[in-house]
Amino acid sequence: MRLRARSVRLLNGQVRPPSDKSISHRALIFGALATGKTEVTALLEAADVLNTAEAVRQLGANAEQIEPGRWLVTGAGGFRQPAETIDCGNSGTAARLLLGAVAGYKLSARFDGDQSLRKRPMNRVVAPLSQMGARFDGVENRLPLIVHGGQLKGITYRSPVSSAQIKSAVLLAGLRAEGETVLIEPERSRDHTERMLGVFGANIDTVEIEGSLCPRVRASELKAANVYVPADPSSAAFPVAAALITGKSEVRVQDVLINPLRLGLYETLLEMGAKLRFEERRDPIGEPIADIVVSGSELVGVTPPPKRAPSMIDEFPILSVIAAFADGETRITGAAELRVKESDRITLMVEGLRACSVEVEELSDGLIVRGRGRKSVRGGAQIRTMGDHRVAMSFLVMGLASKEPIVVDEADMIATSFPGFTDFMRSLGADIAPA
Ligand code: S3P
Repeated sequence: MRLRARSVRLLNGQVRPPSDKSISHRALIFGALATGKTEVTALLEAADVLNTAEAVRQLGANAEQIEPGRWLVTGAGGFRQPAETIDCGNSGTAARLLLGAVAGYKLSARFDGDQSLRKRPMNRVVAPLSQMGARFDGVENRLPLIVHGGQLKGITYRSPVSSAQIKSAVLLAGLRAEGETVLIEPERSRDHTERMLGVFGANIDTVEIEGSLCPRVRASELKAANVYVPADPSSAAFPVAAALITGKSEVRVQDVLINPLRLGLYETLLEMGAKLRFEERRDPIGEPIADIVVSGSELVGVTPPPKRAPSMIDEFPILSVIAAFADGETRITGAAELRVKESDRITLMVEGLRACSVEVEELSDGLIVRGRGRKSVRGGAQIRTMGDHRVAMSFLVMGLASKEPIVVDEADMIATSFPGFTDFMRSLGADIAPA
């Protein structure tokens, strides 16, 4: 379905975005590996996570919805040989974490995904898991791939990129490996796996290597735990952005995960002059949570440090939209990983921004957006999204503050991470409708 966004004077209200995708995948996978019953509250029931639920069922666990958002996951004391191919749909997290989780079991499992996921690099997990002793059949290490699991040995793996998916795959395999498994990465990526493995009773700690704290895991039996999933800061970014760029908006975004390794966008927005604050900070679940209160703001362009990229990796599309409404240049670098996300997000954002009359320059590892302030963006384009949910949502937000409406060519994929996006944004006063 095509969607069209038109400009509005302001947005107003209180909203709770959908639950965190990263934590939701992990709750299902860890619950499935554990002995006992894991109750998950406020699970994100989006397409990506539902694929993971189906995958853990195929691997022998029971995962069932008790009521909307409430799920019970019962492990079968480890994973079993699946009868069918495990379809990870659009989700790199599902594919990479599950490849690591099954690698320590004596089974062969075939993994596949949609057109986008089939293009994404899997060698980044195949390489370390092979070093640990798993075997893989596939062409150029892309999906579809068959993993043959078995007896693993622990390794110290120096990941070439900061990626929580690589880190998690290796640590999950380490739960079944002989000896210890340590992960070194260039900059720290999100640490939900480490935090949640602790909650599930894994033998996990950190070791200091070359001045940075690296996670280390030893063979462990996981025990069921209860998990509450707060709202996703990557989804919260869309109503936050919309409030910032539209007039005298005032929005409270509730119950948002504020894990410091996920806050790069928010740090950057504060540097740009955003009127944004965190209220009612709390930590009921081993992950910090707060409400974000944000209002329409005059912004200036900034250059976020490249080492901040991992903590805002999913937020660059929306940041580049916000940057178009700021005064001056926003220079995004250190973000080459954007080229291997659900789409090549650098190319698509540059193409879409240009179509909307924004001055932008493509770099190999990022982009430069030359913003001309509020009310400067013409819009009036149909955007090619290549089925990328975050590209679609970013341009719909842009359309709420551009002079002419913006149409996105394909909006169904938004449901992979943000079910009900249109109604959610409309509840704040946004004008988004089928085109
Ligand atoms: C995720 C890690 C990130 C992120 C993705 C979710 C996770 O990917 O982009 O949306 O849940 O571990 P990379 O590990 O490839 O950076």
